[in-house]
Amino acid sequence: MKRPLIVVLNGPNLNMLGLRQPDIYGHATLDDVEQVCIQAAERLDVAIDFRQTNGEGELVSWVQECRGRASGVVINPAAYGHTSIALLDALHAIECPVIEVHISNIHRREAFRHHSYVSQAACGVICGLGVRGYAHALQAMADIIEDEG
Ligand code: DQA
Repeated sequence: MKRPLIVVLNGPNLNMLGLRQPDIYGHATLDDVEQVCIQAAERLDVAIDFRQTNGEGELVSWVQECRGRASGVVINPAAYGHTSIALLDALHAIECPVIEVHISNIHRREAFRHHSYVSQAACGVICGLGVRGYAHALQAMADIIEDEG
């Protein structure tokens, strides 16, 4: 049987992981995050498509492409989570389960990070668990896909 596809999307500045504010985001690079996801996907017997972009429009287009193609979306929208109604609208339009991930605990940080538009389209949100949050999100998404059966 074909393995379900989970698309893992990463927003702006996440290509700078490892260099960027390591006191907040840790020392893992985006390549390390991809490895965490690849290993989780193998364990869970799901396929993943892992991507990062700095562009809001590109992120919106990638979300749109998930419609009818992906069984689930795991997204770290980075700063666009706090600002982008376009991203929220795209996530509503694809009609597949969405889990939002943030490496840092956005609720312990500046007030402008406490609200995320993306959360309105997400069945769950994981934040503050570091890059391991991605593995937890993939586990949860695999469970949701299996339950939807
Ligand atoms: C982030 C949190 C956001 O507030 C921030 O803009 C990011 C990364 C996180 O993973 O902790 O770029 O999404």
